[in-house]
Amino acid sequence: MPLRVVMLGDIVGSPGRLAVMQQIPVIRQRWKPDLILANGENAAAGSGLTPEQYHKLRAAGLDGITLGDHVYKRDQIVPVLETEQQIIRPANLPTLAKGRSWMRLTPASTPGSAPTPLPNLYVLTVLGRIFSSLPADDPFAAVDRILPELPERDPIVLVEVHAETTSEKQALGWYLDGRVAAVVGTHTHVPTADAKILPHGTGYITDLGMSGPYESVLGRRIDRVLTHMTTAMHAPFDVADGDPRVCGVYLEIDPASRRTTHIERIELKADPHARPFVA
Ligand SMILES: [Fe+2]
Ligand SMILES: [Fe+2]
Repeated sequence: MPLRVVMLGDIVGSPGRLAVMQQIPVIRQRWKPDLILANGENAAAGSGLTPEQYHKLRAAGLDGITLGDHVYKRDQIVPVLETEQQIIRPANLPTLAKGRSWMRLTPASTPGSAPTPLPNLYVLTVLGRIFSSLPADDPFAAVDRILPELPERDPIVLVEVHAETTSEKQALGWYLDGRVAAVVGTHTHVPTADAKILPHGTGYITDLGMSGPYESVLGRRIDRVLTHMTTAMHAPFDVADGDPRVCGVYLEIDPASRRTTHIERIELKADPHARPFVA
């Protein structure tokens, strides 16, 4: 039995949160994942994640939540980062940065499931350095440092690379091919069409795409972004609301080889006229 994992891209604002909540049952039915994860760095009006949103998304069915460069935009999340086991900050931040740099997710055993329990999944996120807004360390060295620290021999590992450039994401994919189960990109909010398995068995995609409103500029209102870009005037980049979608990948990971045997993109259009968008 493979370990079946769904990882969703950056949840943007309330359209993203509601779309994820609405589509989790669809994902469960269609892909039957053992674990569902998402990046939640833009959940709070486009920037950061509040404790309440963390708990609501977990209750809706997310087994783990990652964060990116917006990790500390809502500083009330810090106690959650320090106490909860299923949320991580980027691993290559300064040593004193609050929060854990990797998490272990254990699939729930279901009645009638295989006699051999499914393995744990270890997850870590690294920030890219090119055009990074935070003082991030070398992401390649950060993964090299953390992999031997994980408390399991030959663990199954998913590495999220939260970076601005496609080159840095691809480079990390090649660097880790054959050493981790999957490398998935986030942060640029535009899904890429390159989901594949690298030669040594690492599942890879340059960007999962955001889970949020696609009638937008990277999740923000088109009129505001155009005003700013065409006039240089300040225009608050509020979160848009049109065409909410949920994007990510579905992975099947072989517990014996700890490599990906199947990867496919997920892109689901949410219905903004149905629950939980409307009561
Ligand atoms: Fe993001
Ligand atoms: Fe980001």
